[in-house]
Order: sequence, then structure tokens, then C-alpha cells
Amino acid sequence: MQTVLLIGALGRMGKAAMSGLSNHKVITAGRSGDVDHKVDITNEESIRELYKKIGHFNAVVNTVGFCEYATFEEMTEEQWMTTVMSKMMGQINLVRIGQEYIADGGSFTLISGILNTKPIPYAIADATASGAIDTFVKTVAFELPRNIRINVINPTVLTEAWDVYGEMMSGFEPVPSTLVGKAFARSVDGFITGQVLFVDA
Ligand SMILES: NC(=O)c1ccc[n+]([C@@H]2O[C@H](COP(=O)([O-])OP(=O)(O)OC[C@H]3O[C@@H](n4cnc5c(N)ncnc54)[C@H](OP(=O)(O)O)[C@@H]3O)[C@@H](O)[C@H]2O)c1
Repeated sequence: MQTVLLIGALGRMGKAAMSGLSNHKVITAGRSGDVDHKVDITNEESIRELYKKIGHFNAVVNTVGFCEYATFEEMTEEQWMTTVMSKMMGQINLVRIGQEYIADGGSFTLISGILNTKPIPYAIADATASGAIDTFVKTVAFELPRNIRINVINPTVLTEAWDVYGEMMSGFEPVPSTLVGKAFARSVDGFITGQVLFVDA
């Protein structure tokens, strides 16, 4: 059993990740709601405070990555920066700061999403941030100290989110949260590192 810090636990992807972590002691974190610890992943100090507070942990699973949606023509710099500072830099900072605190041989598991390989209208910022995170994980795996591992889950849309995203995702087949949960389990429980774990129908 590992101690796993699950960030974004109350979101749809957080619940999917939780379904794969039943063998572990899970500490939940998020920006609001009924979680063990509050954190804002866009704020460096908030991330550091969280790691200091929780003490010993073996794994970080992050499922937070806020994105703005608009056409490229309409997307403002502010919308780009909001997406970059959450889905891209928020996740990079979780690893950059977290490497100081995580146990030897620990693991980070991040979130991207299928839209960087299967683009759709309005999702250019999400797709770009997802592509950056996939590349970050493949590359930083070579540099992490103390046998720390890192992977990213790149899922298609969840069945549980089809009511929200289904209309903009014509031609896509959703997958159940429990299947995506198994990818999180494979990252946390296994020995793989530097991998993009695609979960597609
Ligand atoms: N849902 C899908 O089908 C799907 C598929 C593939 C990839 N993804 C990716 O998964 C990620 C999460 O999506 P989701 O569907 O789980 O979204 P969601 O249901 O809206 O949940 C997002 C969670 O993250 C929290 N959060 C937002 N900004 C935060 C911040 N700065 N610091 C800490 N917590 C924050 C939210 O808290 P608040 O309630 O306080 O806002 C909420 O609990 C996104 O990057 C998305 O692109 C989702």
C-alpha cells in the first residue's frame, strides 16, 4: 500500500483515478469542496504548502487542468495563459516542487487528453497543453532523481462526461471511468516511466 496524493479528487477525472487507487491510502486535494487539503495548482506557494503539510507520500496523481475553449481566431492571450498556467505550468510545477518532497522511488501521474492526437474545433488550447504535458513527461523522466517515475494518462472522453462534451465530440466513443482508473493504477503500481498511457475506445 502506498500513500497517494490525489489532486482534483472531486472532478470527473479525479473520480476515475480514485476508482483505480483502492489498494492505497489516498489523500485528497482540490481547490474547493470536501477534500483533505485545499490547493490551487496555479499558485506555487499553495503547491509547496500542500507538500509540506502532508508529510510522507509515495505518489502524486494530478487530474486538474483547466482549459479555455474557443476558435483560434477568437482565443485571447488571457485565455491561452489561463490554460497554460493550469494544465501545463500547474502540472509542471507539481512535479518541479514535488520532486523535493516525494519519497524515494515515488511516482507522478499527470493528465493530458486525446485532443492533441485527435483534434476537434474549439479545443486548440487544451490540445496544445496536452501535447506539452505528454512531451514533458517523456523528457523529464530522464532527469528525475532517486528512481522517481513519471507518466501521463491521455484518455478520450469519459462516459460520465458525455453529457457535457458529447455535442462537441461527434464521432468519438466514450470510455468508462473504471477503464481510465486502470491506467492510473498501471502508472502508480507498475514500474513504467516516461510513458503516455492512451485510453481510447
Ligand atoms: N472529463 C473527461 O472526459 C476528460 C477526458 C480526457 C481528459 N480530461 C482532462 O482531465 C482534466 C480534468 O477534467 P474533469 O473532467 O475532471 O474536470 P472537472 O470535472 O471540471 O473537475 C476539475 C476539478 O479540478 C479542480 N480545479 C480546477 N482548477 C483547479 C486549480 N487551479 N487547483 C486545484 N484544483 C482545481 C476543480 O475544482 P473546483 O470545483 O473548485 O473548480 C474540480 O474539482 C482536464 O484537463 C481535462 O481536459 C477530461
